Amino acid sequence: MDLKNFCQSVDSELEAALIDHLGQDSQDSLLASMRYSLENGGKRLRPSLLLATLASFGYDYHLGLTPACAVEYIHTYSLIHDDLPAMDNDDYRRGQLTNHKKFDEATAILAGDALLTLAFQVLSQGQEDSDPKLSLQLVQLLAQAAGKSGMVDGQVMDMASEEKHLTIEELKGLHGKKTGALIHFALMAPALIMDLSQAAQESLATYAKHFGIAYQIQNDLQEVMWTDEERGKKSHGDQDSDKNTYPSLLGKEGALDALASERGACQAALDDLSKQSEDFDPQLLTDFLNYLSMDYGKG
Ligand code: IPE
Ligand code: IPE
Ligand code: MG
Ligand code: MG
Repeated sequence: MDLKNFCQSVDSELEAALIDHLGQDSQDSLLASMRYSLENGGKRLRPSLLLATLASFGYDYHLGLTPACAVEYIHTYSLIHDDLPAMDNDDYRRGQLTNHKKFDEATAILAGDALLTLAFQVLSQGQEDSDPKLSLQLVQLLAQAAGKSGMVDGQVMDMASEEKHLTIEELKGLHGKKTGALIHFALMAPALIMDLSQAAQESLATYAKHFGIAYQIQNDLQEVMWTDEERGKKSHGDQDSDKNTYPSLLGKEGALDALASERGACQAALDDLSKQSEDFDPQLLTDFLNYLSMDYGKG
């Protein structure tokens, strides 16, 4: 099955699971704020990667629905907070008002807090018949990916680097945490669920590492190469605030070369995985490399 068909077949279940955990109360303004950011057009990259990784080894993707929701809750909270005036101060995301512009700052902060907490609530509850030990391992994996040792630290580095000039190696480290950490969870949660060999886990981690860097390079290239309409954002925030990005350090061509090189490293990791594991079908994770092209997601 190719990725398009796979995503079509999991899409409605993933969307239903994401909303189910939240509950419904039309009078609840915090819930309205959480749902606003959760349902306004995210690409669902991280949960899709997670479910596709299970399917790539012939496993039932339903085994991953709870961790898939958890990582999307964390991602959604991270974007709500990223857009706040104290951070990137963006008014638009995905072509719509950012959460704090649609609601207010306090509500946006609290909606983010609630989504962050919800991620760990659902993960610790586990799924029907799931092994409590596995749930605990997934909780630990997500905590490492999301918190001080992962995404949050990447955001701290991103803010702190506005006054500095980073080397490419330092920028890679920053992207690896800011963007790579949640993608690492998306690949390694299935590895835990399937109890994969050490070698297979290492190949998946290598794929995740290069995917995360490439995804952020692409995001920063879009800021330079795309119109506001194509990006669904209004300002050129990174350029305005002198952020360190691949395009600002290497120029557009240099950043495009780096994107291609990271993509190649992802492909090499899949080649290794195919040699290590007979059960592994590389098609879906190969198709995901199309996300790492400058044409992806336009419009
Ligand atoms: C945006 O991520 C922020 C980055 C870490 C690059 P996505 O582009 O995956 O966000 P949505 O959810 O699809 O809008
Ligand atoms: C957002 O990074 C990454 C996280 C929230 C972890 P950026 O600030 O570079 O992404 P956009 O451009 O706002 O989506
Ligand atoms: Mg940011
Ligand atoms: Mg931002």
